Amino acid sequence: MGNRGLWHHTACLGVAVAALSIGSVASAAPDKGTVSVLNWWTSGSEAKSMNVLSDMLADQGYKMVNDAVSGGGGSNARTVLKSRIQSNNMPGAAQIKGPEIQQWCQAGMAMNIDEVAKQQDWSKILPGPVAKGMQCDGHFVAVPFNLHRINWVWINKSALKKAGATMPSDWNSFVAALDKLKAAGITPIAGGGDTWQVATEFDAIALATGGADFYRNAFVDLKPDALSSDTMVKALSRLRTLQKYEDANDQGLSWNHNTGAVVKGEAGMQIMGDWAKGEITNAGATPGDQVACMAMPGEHSGFVYNADSFEMFKKSNSDKAAQYAFARTALSPEFQRKFNMAKGSIPVREGVSLDGFDACAQKAQSDFEAAEKNNALVPSFSQDMAETGAVKGALFDVIAKFYNNKNMSAEAAAKQMASQAKQAKLMSSM
Ligand code: GAL
Repeated sequence: MGNRGLWHHTACLGVAVAALSIGSVASAAPDKGTVSVLNWWTSGSEAKSMNVLSDMLADQGYKMVNDAVSGGGGSNARTVLKSRIQSNNMPGAAQIKGPEIQQWCQAGMAMNIDEVAKQQDWSKILPGPVAKGMQCDGHFVAVPFNLHRINWVWINKSALKKAGATMPSDWNSFVAALDKLKAAGITPIAGGGDTWQVATEFDAIALATGGADFYRNAFVDLKPDALSSDTMVKALSRLRTLQKYEDANDQGLSWNHNTGAVVKGEAGMQIMGDWAKGEITNAGATPGDQVACMAMPGEHSGFVYNADSFEMFKKSNSDKAAQYAFARTALSPEFQRKFNMAKGSIPVREGVSLDGFDACAQKAQSDFEAAEKNNALVPSFSQDMAETGAVKGALFDVIAKFYNNKNMSAEAAAKQMASQAKQAKLMSSM
């Protein structure tokens, strides 16, 4: 992922001090404008993270209206965004990720924010592929907030101990620990049923089973050979195995409810991106201590990444100056530290110190750097980083069908993935 060698999280005192001045200059400033922000951050930790931004904007004299729409993964928020075009009520900024940034821009909706990008030198302070993803026709139209890792397992250490299990280190010891949790009457994995949560689990399994080249061939390049391969069949079989440890009654429970179950020890584990870490912290537990983090075990290591970002709209209900302030503040070192500590992610801006971040954030950072060196960084298909909505939807449909129908074989599901992804790609290019 570009020049992450520059990505030193130390020795950045100068930048941090410069950013701290934003608040003090601004608190006396009058109302300079409003920016409305459509997003899907409604859990406790997500709301807290957004408050960091509204507070920092208020300190500078800007008002942020937080248009949050519940629903993990953002499918409801996307629907609301589309309906707001119809009613001529576009927000100043909306949470949009991956290739969808380009789609909105091609539709002529995006606002050019080159001026801010130039002031802060975004091409230098952001990892190459992230900076590229924020641009359209050579102009910046979106601002990234963070880097999340998807392929994590969160494990309640006391539950594990109570069940007489030890920390797993590979696929077999992982399944053995799940067996022990089950035998002890503890729900082994929280999160069965909801398609987005199951797809997020599968995302982690796919990388661990097939590795980065396989992942890219399948989910980025949509190669039918990879989508229907024996490796995909193996990954799907592993999802079927894990399903045995999930509670069918969990259907309909949100991801953050499920994280809460792990924190309380009602469930042993959760397979989820590190926004779960935000909830763990928010619940008063220490990630890496009461709740351990482990990269999803398998034959391959790597890092499935997800950069949350906000696209700016030119015809919106917001003031341009406030939209600029929003983008500028989001990439200030002060925001990058405070926001990411609360959110569970790591800073996307280079040179921001990780001092004071928990052990799992430190591990995310070092695993990110290792994956970058080994070409093992992949954009998350389940979090909209690899494909547009239509293709992701097709993959999700097959995963849901497979999960909900225990008679469907992994081979049949893999074949369907190949054919449906191809069809969705074709349709969306028409
Ligand atoms: C993801 C998003 C994360 C987190 C999660 C659950 O799509 O990137 O930041 O909010 O949804 O809502």
